[in-house]
Amino acid sequence: MSFEYHNLRSGTAAVSSDDQFAQAVLEGLSREPKRLPSWLIFDDRGSRIFTEITQLAGYHPAQCEFEIFQNHKQAVTDLLAKHAFRVIELGAGDGKKTQILLEHFIQGRLAFDYVPIDISEGAVKNLVAFLESRFSQSTMSVTGLAADYFDGLRAIKEQSNLRNFVLFLGSTIGNMELPAAELFVRKLRESLNDGDYLMIGFDLMKHPKTLYSAYNDSTGVFERFNLHLLDVLNRKLGANFVKDHYVQQGHYNPGTHAVESYIYSTREHVVFIEVLGKDFFFGAWEPMQTEHSYKYTQSEIELLAEKSGYRIVKHLFDTHNHFVDSIWEVKK
Ligand SMILES: C[S@@+](CC[C@H](N)C(=O)[O-])C[C@H]1O[C@@H](n2cnc3c(N)ncnc32)[C@H](O)[C@@H]1O
Repeated sequence: MSFEYHNLRSGTAAVSSDDQFAQAVLEGLSREPKRLPSWLIFDDRGSRIFTEITQLAGYHPAQCEFEIFQNHKQAVTDLLAKHAFRVIELGAGDGKKTQILLEHFIQGRLAFDYVPIDISEGAVKNLVAFLESRFSQSTMSVTGLAADYFDGLRAIKEQSNLRNFVLFLGSTIGNMELPAAELFVRKLRESLNDGDYLMIGFDLMKHPKTLYSAYNDSTGVFERFNLHLLDVLNRKLGANFVKDHYVQQGHYNPGTHAVESYIYSTREHVVFIEVLGKDFFFGAWEPMQTEHSYKYTQSEIELLAEKSGYRIVKHLFDTHNHFVDSIWEVKK
């Protein structure tokens, strides 16, 4: 069995991903109110802090998904075992939840490839090293790709005898607004074959107080995660943000159906960003949005699947119905 890591973001691709990063920051800081996309946070350290979030007892999206995988791993195995398959994970992060499934497949003596894809180079590298240390004598081969989702998918060898099982977990789809989520799953369908499966983790709408507690932990990990964005901007773009001048808070916005995290500058000041060659003014207590996590209803999920050319195979819920991993089949 082989364990490989490929960085598709190095060389000339690194220049274009740096440009994409700078462009996203310029656009976000030019908006009124300022708003930056959450993918900017995920450098190596950002991924490590996100892993700390997934370990918080109150962060239900992760705890529910761990429970779903434990309770339903046999159902997923039964679905896949009929056919040779390959597991592709988009935005794999530390891959901890997925390992529950991978281990179960291995125990069932199923031979398969696992392809984790993530823009965070450190996350993919560590994941491949960990899997190799743990599963080198198993029925699984691993090819980790440090890449954007669709660059990673394009780089994967087409193998018509394999059914792809694509995972998009952790409620990452919630970071997109509804129209963007629809575009994303439609584009994904174009990259996949008839009969492939897609499993998406959706956080469901629930009591706003539960949502508030999930995104405002008393130990301050969420604040550290969101403020880390300022370190990333300082390092990657030569900005001069002073982290101590900012605080963070998340809240559920019934207007957008999303938990939104904001960082607030506690004083009026100007930040210079060298790579953009530009000053940005921040007023006292001006908010800047750093996270958007849409909360779905079951009917929105079903509409999204049907409108985008998928057949719903199964919904896997946690015991509190707080979260669902929804399995769809590509129909062409
Ligand atoms: C919310 S975290 C979820 C991580 C993991 N799937 C989980 O459930 O714990 C989102 C992950 O997607 C990755 N990511 C974000 N945008 C990406 C993109 N455009 N291409 C590839 N990975 C991306 C981030 O680096 C991060 O690891």
